[in-house]
Amino acid sequence: MKRKEFLTTLTGSFSVACLACLAQACSKDDNGAPAPVNSPGSSSGFSINLDTDLKSVNTYVAKNGFIVIRTATGNTVASFVAYSAVCPHAGATVEYNANTSSFLCPAHGSTFSATGALIQGPATRGLTKLEIEIMGSSLKVKA
Ligand code: FES
Repeated sequence: MKRKEFLTTLTGSFSVACLACLAQACSKDDNGAPAPVNSPGSSSGFSINLDTDLKSVNTYVAKNGFIVIRTATGNTVASFVAYSAVCPHAGATVEYNANTSSFLCPAHGSTFSATGALIQGPATRGLTKLEIEIMGSSLKVKA
């Protein structure tokens, strides 16, 4: 095989391999957007099974950057509140204290009431309240 024929064969094989790579990279699932980052408060919400969780008043679930608290009996929207667990000061994750019915940010000490209202800074506003919906025994936090 002459040098020119060898290079032509090599270049052709390389081109086929590159086309296969490009076809895979441009599949329908890839819209060019960066992969989502799972940060608190930015996910698409989550569901809670009310047959197993949040059965008693003042119990709570902290999950995926959200905190859901049962405030009354019955499985209605009015029986629950949901907040983003992201502290409005600098983005740390707040914690709920069921004994004091309040939220504390461990980063710099901001505190929030059970309604999410600011009690003490350095945060300058309360927690972000989120909508919920209930379908049967499933509670979904809308984020
Ligand atoms: S991040 Fe919560 S008080 Fe600073």
